[in-house]
Amino acid sequence: MKSLVFSALILFGLGCGTAEMNSPDVPIIPLPVSVTAGAGYFAFTDATAFKTDSEEVAAVVERFASEIRVSTGLPLMVAFDEGDIEVGLQADLGVESYQLTIDSDRIALKGGDLAGIFYGLQSLRQLLPAQIEANVVASNVDWSVPAITISDAPRFPYRGMHLDVGRYFFDVAFVKKYIDTMSRYKFNRFHWHLTEDQGWRIEIKKYPLLTEVAAWRKETIVEKNFDPYIGDGIPHGGFYTQDEIREVVAYAAERFVTIIPEIEMPGHSTAVIAAYPQLGCRSEKIEVAVTWGVKDEILCPSEETFTFLTDVLTEVLDLFPSPKIHIGADEVPKTNWKNNAVAQSIIKRENLADEEELQSWFIKRIEAFLSANGRTLIGWDEILEGGLAPNATVMSWRGVVGGIEAARQGHDVIMTPTKYAYFDFYQADPASEPLAMNWAGFTIPLDTVYSFEPIPEELTASEAKHIIGAQANVWTEYISTPEYVEYMAYPRALAMAEVVWSPKEKRNIDSFYTRLVGNLPHLESMGVNYRIPESRNANPTGFAANQ
Ligand code: ACM
Repeated sequence: MKSLVFSALILFGLGCGTAEMNSPDVPIIPLPVSVTAGAGYFAFTDATAFKTDSEEVAAVVERFASEIRVSTGLPLMVAFDEGDIEVGLQADLGVESYQLTIDSDRIALKGGDLAGIFYGLQSLRQLLPAQIEANVVASNVDWSVPAITISDAPRFPYRGMHLDVGRYFFDVAFVKKYIDTMSRYKFNRFHWHLTEDQGWRIEIKKYPLLTEVAAWRKETIVEKNFDPYIGDGIPHGGFYTQDEIREVVAYAAERFVTIIPEIEMPGHSTAVIAAYPQLGCRSEKIEVAVTWGVKDEILCPSEETFTFLTDVLTEVLDLFPSPKIHIGADEVPKTNWKNNAVAQSIIKRENLADEEELQSWFIKRIEAFLSANGRTLIGWDEILEGGLAPNATVMSWRGVVGGIEAARQGHDVIMTPTKYAYFDFYQADPASEPLAMNWAGFTIPLDTVYSFEPIPEELTASEAKHIIGAQANVWTEYISTPEYVEYMAYPRALAMAEVVWSPKEKRNIDSFYTRLVGNLPHLESMGVNYRIPESRNANPTGFAANQ
């Protein structure tokens, strides 16, 4: 079914084979800063080889070559002395930037740094026929790329994709695939949402009950059957061992993706409190949550809790080199602090106005710990309430208002407003889609994601500098399989990739759709279960005729 519709899209979008190349529609996503068409094609043959100028460049190129050897069946040697694809560093190009020049007899790729080289190779890969992604040799394919010159650099330094593995656990193989796929579209931050009311997913050696108890729930609510409650009767859980986490961190680093772990506090902590009840603000025993929604369970601001959190974070810092660590802090009802003697005594002792200031005091203590260990903190925009911790980065999700306020206070901001960036929401009419989030009743189609502008008009130029980027979030209350994650994430992630990478003034939805048609075969060939976008009157260009 997919390939039928897909063929129709191809016919529709790329029907005329001999038209001149229309350079803005070169099928690269995200759209590069500048693209100039040349004449002719460079053909990959048995004799094609990469020439690099250093061991570190060779390592990046060798990883790429080893991937495309699989589908092309070509030797594609990587050498220092000779080769017709010359790859090297040129620092003045800048961070994550590259210049790719394809002539009919040679290719030159210069990167401002190793990440730039990696991104240049991703653009090169997208110019090759989609079978380049195959995991077996693809025969009878013309491995040619058009002559072209590309100069490219990212608009934002933070280009993120998020995955919630707390609501449902996704195994290492899928997490790697998710990272690999996003990296091909030049995302560079993976926000790994590792702890939730419904499950704790990271091994912490000092607290074994986190993986013995907090990682497992006895069942899961069926769809939205809250009242009366219906559970599926199927235990669910899982966690990543520290060795697995190291493996994923290294895998991501090879793709120039930094993993930002999120350890939620003080809310979204039902699973933690199920394992260690003394950390909660009331004494009765609770279970790992089996339903969705905001829970009252909250970590008590006791010294025991801070010992626990700093112990946990110590192990987290050891696993994740990311300079920024996400500590959640969203959706924290304060009822259990209002009724708790320890919480109330701290409010009094510290001269705090209320529970909001208590949360701010809590987060500032964690910030001080991270700062003493050379890291900074990211929190959801609730961390603005009661006063921001020094150096905190705000992830603005309840619209952009929190982001605007934080930027005005001189704090860095990552924009991820629900209406544009929540890929757990429906992307089309709910009547024709699998179950998804529809809180507040809105859907988030591909075009809406594409229309997102991370820098609000209200900000001055100097305030706008604090918007370090944007991110798409995949919460998984209704997403229990890898296939469904991909269906929700792709191709919307491609629209977000362009939002965070491409120059604002060059973004154009018609061009995007045309390039999307050229790009979907790559996702198909990669085995990504993307959603087939609705047909659109894509502007046919001859460019992709040989793809
Ligand atoms: C969130 O969606 N609760 C950050």
